[in-house]
Amino acid sequence: MKFSGMTIGVPTEIMPGERRVSSTPETVKKMVDEGAVVLVQAGAGEGAFFSDDQYKAAGATIVERAKEVFDKADVILKVKEPLFNEKEGMHESDMLRDGQYLITFLHPAAPVNREPMKKLRDTGCISITLDGIPRISRAQSMDALTSMSTVAGYKGVLMAASYLSKFMPMIGTAVGVIKPAKVVVIGTGVAGLQAVATAKRLGAEVTAIDIRPDAAEQARSLGAKSVDTGVPKEVAIGEGGYAQRLPEEWLKKEIEAIKPVVKDADVIILTALIPGKLAPVLITEEMVKSMKPGSVIVDIAIDQGGNCAVTKAGEETVFEGVTVSGIKNIPGMMPTSSTWMFANNIYNLLAYLTKDGKIVLDRNDPIVASSLTTINKEIVHAGAKEAGL
Ligand code: NAI
Repeated sequence: MKFSGMTIGVPTEIMPGERRVSSTPETVKKMVDEGAVVLVQAGAGEGAFFSDDQYKAAGATIVERAKEVFDKADVILKVKEPLFNEKEGMHESDMLRDGQYLITFLHPAAPVNREPMKKLRDTGCISITLDGIPRISRAQSMDALTSMSTVAGYKGVLMAASYLSKFMPMIGTAVGVIKPAKVVVIGTGVAGLQAVATAKRLGAEVTAIDIRPDAAEQARSLGAKSVDTGVPKEVAIGEGGYAQRLPEEWLKKEIEAIKPVVKDADVIILTALIPGKLAPVLITEEMVKSMKPGSVIVDIAIDQGGNCAVTKAGEETVFEGVTVSGIKNIPGMMPTSSTWMFANNIYNLLAYLTKDGKIVLDRNDPIVASSLTTINKEIVHAGAKEAGL
């Protein structure tokens, strides 16, 4: 059996406000059926509405303390990077040991993670980061970043609709017709396309902006209008067909092209990202000032610095009458759907890596090569090394 002899640990997530959990009773059952012992910390699934009894019925062993899960498991499955556990009075990294596996989101190249990455390296644990899963067809079922982008795009529009001081759809009333809200989505990758589809379903008039012609085309096929940024394809697209950081002169041209649409918008959803890099700033302070009071910006790109100059990370602010949301962890606000996708993604990755009860890492496999982060007390993740680690 695939997981025979393997102990898999599912600790409770400890980041404040985090309601997701790395495994559902459904994925626990799959692991148990294939021979694993699964240790689930008591209450781990509460935020996502899974009870200890459901995990028990799936074959898990419920364990009271996080420390016990870490001490006994060969593999730890988590949603968020290791953090300080107040209840244990101990950092989760200090609970990991040499040769133990950790699979989670680590974002190893982000500047804020420099010291945590060193700490993780020094434990000797073998860490695998979910944000390193390559965007290739055979890795799709393991791609938690894409799953979470789907949630963020959808929920981001719902958040905007609830901040907005007017209707999203066109409404006919006895005193006249209320026009639909104008929603602008900047960056139409996975999150942006989901935002376009959601805003369309709510009846808004949607305009999409992306420097990759394919992404703009996909947004149009969902019924959005698009804006020509004027950025040539060869400048916009880099390695692997993804967007690359624009040279300053082209960024300025794009901003000029965007200005009139921004001024006219009721809602702006920002999701423009460059893989592994800081997000481009596309909405300047002056552009926010040009918007109508009562309008809304939801900056989904905030984890990578944000696309708007006035967004405050983790906060909802009002700037010159415009509500600007820099809320992080939007997927955590929809714990049922995001946990269901996340748990299946992490299960598929673990199942892919495991042979006869052992994790086997083929460093020539692109899925392993780009997600393996620390091993043998070394940081091996390319992005983290590029960032000087
Ligand atoms: P992303 O999250 O890296 O970026 C979001 C969007 O921002 C991209 O469409 C990008 O072109 C755009 N962007 C970057 N700089 C911009 C700028 N200056 N102005 C306007 N827009 C800008 O992208 P994501 O969501 O990961 O998707 C990228 C592509 O990868 C998509 O075409 C998607 O379909 C594909 N993909 C394929 C997967 C697979 O085959 N397994 C999985 C996930 C995505």
